[in-house]
Amino acid sequence: MTTATVTTTPTTTTAIINISSLVTNDTSLGKGPLGLIQDAAVVIDGDRIAWVGETSKAPATDNRVDAGGRSGLPGFVDSHSHLVFAGDRTAEFNARMSGESYRAGGIRTTVAATRAASDADLEAGLVRLVREAVRQGTTTLETKSGYGLTTYDEARALRIAAAQVDEVTYLGAHVLAPEFDGDPEGYVALVTGEMLDACAPYARWIDVFCERGAFDGDQARAVLTAGKARGLQLRVHANQLGHGPGVQLAVELGAASADHCTHLTDADVDALAQGDTVATLLPGAEFSTRAQWPDARRLLDAGVTVALSTDCNPGSSFTSSMPFCIALAVRDMGMTPDQAVWSATAGGAAALRRTDVGRLTPGARADLALLDAPSHVHLAYRPGVPLVSAVWRRGVREL
Ligand code: NIG
Ligand code: FE
Repeated sequence: MTTATVTTTPTTTTAIINISSLVTNDTSLGKGPLGLIQDAAVVIDGDRIAWVGETSKAPATDNRVDAGGRSGLPGFVDSHSHLVFAGDRTAEFNARMSGESYRAGGIRTTVAATRAASDADLEAGLVRLVREAVRQGTTTLETKSGYGLTTYDEARALRIAAAQVDEVTYLGAHVLAPEFDGDPEGYVALVTGEMLDACAPYARWIDVFCERGAFDGDQARAVLTAGKARGLQLRVHANQLGHGPGVQLAVELGAASADHCTHLTDADVDALAQGDTVATLLPGAEFSTRAQWPDARRLLDAGVTVALSTDCNPGSSFTSSMPFCIALAVRDMGMTPDQAVWSATAGGAAALRRTDVGRLTPGARADLALLDAPSHVHLAYRPGVPLVSAVWRRGVREL
């Protein structure tokens, strides 16, 4: 008989010291709603945060990194993106900037290019966008299918996504597949039947584009309830292009998030305020479609939890930049810089029902960014300036 030896790999501890101003999002650690600490240090042990406090009290560690007075915050949690696709929609963007309006039908252009692409090309495009996001401070990403719209192409998008991002969402109900023109019920049957069976193993979430031109309230309900019965959790593209049933359906069915929330009635706002569905606002979409801004201030005043995300996709919002979304939310949606930074970190975590990301607290994932600026406020104050100068993701230095 042999004796088993247990070998434990010792993890390396690293202290990041001399952070001028640190957003922790833990109100027990620091001041105000962002849990701010001045002259802060963060200790990383493996892929986790081990300690957070003032530099003068930091424990001894294997390594030290001097932040040199830069500010710090949790890595951004981008809880809404569509990164598995091929082709681009430059021509459509150009036409829009010449006065045409955004239509959901443009999605089919990307569907055709995505179906024609190889697995390797889809993966390479996804990896490039993930890297682009990480360089801008994003450390947690959700991404969706929705440009395949066949059982094979949706499942392959999710399989490719699951290998690269934290959170994966099945969006077979993005628009009607072209093969089902005139037969929406037939397509919903596919999305809730064979396609769901093939996709569920790769996804934690199911989503539906509930909008005129996409899926109506009854169809969206059928999609979401089928997903829930398969153990998927819910998120909804709701009230982006006009008023509709999406937001109230999301709250009624217990969705983690209602995304877009641009066109809201008082009853929609009340429903969000009373339920526990996060409102995820995606200002990149309004920017790139020249549409009305979502009213973040109205939602915050009503007590709704608000998240900010990029919606990065080739049609309505081809940006991977959370700092850009923060700047837009502050300039045009009535958020304060503190609120926007919270929504882009802890808010995104809430929209994904995660407690291990979006804050810097012992036990959380070691995901943080340093800014070449004295505080997080500069993300809105200095729009378009690449302030993110260092990023740790799962304890690994990525920038
Ligand atoms: O979130 N609204 C639906 N889906 C995307 C747009 C996708 C596209 O235009 O390709 C969105 O904005
Ligand atoms: Fe979207």
